[in-house]
Amino acid sequence: MHAAVLSTFDAPPAYRAHPEPVAAGDHEMVVRVLAAGLHHLTRSKATGSHYSGSGALPLVPGADGVVRDPAGRLRYAVLDDTRSGTFAERTVIDVRRSVELPAGADPVRIAAAMNPAMSSWVALRRRITFAAGQRVLIIGATGNAGRMAVQVAKLFGAARVIAAGRDAARLAALTALGADETCTLDEISAAADVDVVLDYVWGEPAATAMIPMLTARTDRSAPLTWIQIGSMAGATAPIPAAALRAARMRIVGSGIGSVPARDFLAELPQIAAAVGEGRIDVRARAVPLAGVADAWAAETDERIVLVP
Ligand SMILES: NC(=O)c1ccc[n+]([C@@H]2O[C@H](COP(=O)([O-])OP(=O)(O)OC[C@H]3O[C@@H](n4cnc5c(N)ncnc54)[C@H](OP(=O)(O)O)[C@@H]3O)[C@@H](O)[C@H]2O)c1
Repeated sequence: MHAAVLSTFDAPPAYRAHPEPVAAGDHEMVVRVLAAGLHHLTRSKATGSHYSGSGALPLVPGADGVVRDPAGRLRYAVLDDTRSGTFAERTVIDVRRSVELPAGADPVRIAAAMNPAMSSWVALRRRITFAAGQRVLIIGATGNAGRMAVQVAKLFGAARVIAAGRDAARLAALTALGADETCTLDEISAAADVDVVLDYVWGEPAATAMIPMLTARTDRSAPLTWIQIGSMAGATAPIPAAALRAARMRIVGSGIGSVPARDFLAELPQIAAAVGEGRIDVRARAVPLAGVADAWAAETDERIVLVP
């Protein structure tokens, strides 16, 4: 078969012949890959920088995807840490880490959406007790996960969703997806009175935003949960000590590990349904797997989906 094979962390994967994958355990099966998203998780695992990656080479990247199982059923599958990923004509899945999709599901749309959509869905459902009527600020709202977070927060009954980012033009487009307000990161004090922050940016911008935002709160003793989800602006953030004293804020993270795999998996059917039914808007660009090297380096705000 053909696959995208990564032989070094310094260069994109190459499309070439690769040995057929082999199923091992009781729950494993060899499946045909129909579509696999090029997510940040996929890239950072493939470059050895994600905390859940093994760092071993060579490897076939691809952390998830839409596949056809031996019985002809469509499935969305999440792969455990593996060197035999979904950027291949065939891969091995653990059926317990998959969800069956309706026969008419669009593989590209599902493959593009599940990873970014689950970031906010799981954070609000599994990391905190989110109640309808609460107010949510999304930092980094213009990205794929952030745009979906706007929609997911609304689906969960948020009373107010404020979308924050660095690009005013991109932010303006988010009102059509349900954002009640938008603001740039410099204007974050205007978003002070929220109950939850979903932070995709972290780094210096998140740390800088904290004091102006927290000190502008009408009631600083009202609880605020800052959920660290992504780290687009930096893996570390210099949190001012005063930020933890000036207001009743707690910082938690949401991701693989802080949320158990079984909790992620339990949410998959509902996320797939929301995507499939069009309740979550998806920006996807299908690219043939043979074009993986160019796609790897492409700068686009659409989610690239590789199609074998
Ligand atoms: N923990 C989880 O469960 C989970 C799941 C999925 C994704 N994630 C993480 O979430 C993050 C976003 O993923 P995505 O799929 O939405 O990526 P994306 O589509 O590439 O969007 C990236 C977002 O980050 C913003 N950004 C990038 N660099 C920035 C900087 N230096 N300062 C301020 N904003 C910056 C971008 O703003 P512009 O629009 O202005 O460029 C955009 O809003 C990634 O770190 C990803 O790994 C986490």
